[in-house]
Amino acid sequence: MNSASQSIHQDVRDYYGRILQGSQDLKTGACCSVESLSPRMRQLLAEVHPEVNARFYGCGAPLPTALEGCHVLDLGCGSGRDVYVLSRLVGESGRVTGVDMTPEQLEVARRHQAWHAERYGHAQSNVRFVEGYIEDLEGAGLADESVDVVVSNCVVNLAPDKEAVFREVLRVLKPGGELYFSDVFCDRRLPQALQDDPVLRGECLGGALYTEDFRRLLGQLGCADVRGVAQAPVPLLDPEIEAKIGFARFTSMTLRVFKLPLEDRCEDFGQVATYLGTIPDQPHAFDLDDHHRFETGRPLRVCGNTFDMLGKSRLARHFRLEGDTSRHFGLFDCGPAQPAATGTAAGACC
Ligand SMILES: C[S@@+](CC[C@H](N)C(=O)[O-])C[C@H]1O[C@@H](n2cnc3c(N)ncnc32)[C@H](O)[C@@H]1O
Repeated sequence: MNSASQSIHQDVRDYYGRILQGSQDLKTGACCSVESLSPRMRQLLAEVHPEVNARFYGCGAPLPTALEGCHVLDLGCGSGRDVYVLSRLVGESGRVTGVDMTPEQLEVARRHQAWHAERYGHAQSNVRFVEGYIEDLEGAGLADESVDVVVSNCVVNLAPDKEAVFREVLRVLKPGGELYFSDVFCDRRLPQALQDDPVLRGECLGGALYTEDFRRLLGQLGCADVRGVAQAPVPLLDPEIEAKIGFARFTSMTLRVFKLPLEDRCEDFGQVATYLGTIPDQPHAFDLDDHHRFETGRPLRVCGNTFDMLGKSRLARHFRLEGDTSRHFGLFDCGPAQPAATGTAAGACC
């Protein structure tokens, strides 16, 4: 690690270890989740220890479903709010690993480990917290292809070497595994002086990736089809910070990226997917992303990429999938997803 990266790590560690004592100390609305949650998720959050909840600095809700029995890794887990919710979602047969570089955050997370296991009725805690860098998950003890789902909440923007982070994510994920994460993105590349400002970086703004650079980076790493789940503008709140920032606009986004060899465009092979209604707490519909809602029992035409996301991941047992890639019908029309029975060009992607 070079000295510039070390100094950014130290600034960020100071910010989350010493300067901030709780969510109320934040100067902007960047690390302040506004994503709407299902009643079940709201209930699980309410059951997390109040001290853990008070040190939540996330910008979204990277809490995917269909996790029973999975190994989930939380990058930059902080005081562990999402880890504890995920502990419920994976159940006793699954496990959750949280990695963070700030000892003060991990101390809060670990202090309440036994409390949560007891409250959840787990004979043994199914979570563990590891001190380490998300750019070096090997150093944190994570082997190749050992994780089903990687989540992260408002952390990647803080990392000086984002390419290293995504490379490590793709190394530890099993084939068909998924990165499901929330982060702050910017509508432009920020001037270096703003990127170097410790408060702007600490508040998750200075290091925010320009959305197009993020798309390019993921494409170079072999992930050509990133799906948006939710997004919301980030309010700056502080007039001094607003004056520094100028016209740049920040957005908090929750995204899903599958470790699968997908195409860079949505292609039409006449494939059809039907949700079986079998994911716990989602009996009526499953939302893959912000434009794919699968109602239970209703066949939908899908592109080749969506077909593979559903059929070659942990979601496969919850779908009936019909078709293959033997016949190609051209580019898939990226409009709103349509029932297969209408026979019109349909489906949606990207
Ligand atoms: C904005 S807070 C989010 C914490 C947690 N995800 C939450 O939602 O409350 C960022 C966290 O990421 C950790 N972090 C930042 N950069 C990191 C890195 N390069 N490696 C490991 N942890 C990092 C910080 O220590 C801090 O706990």
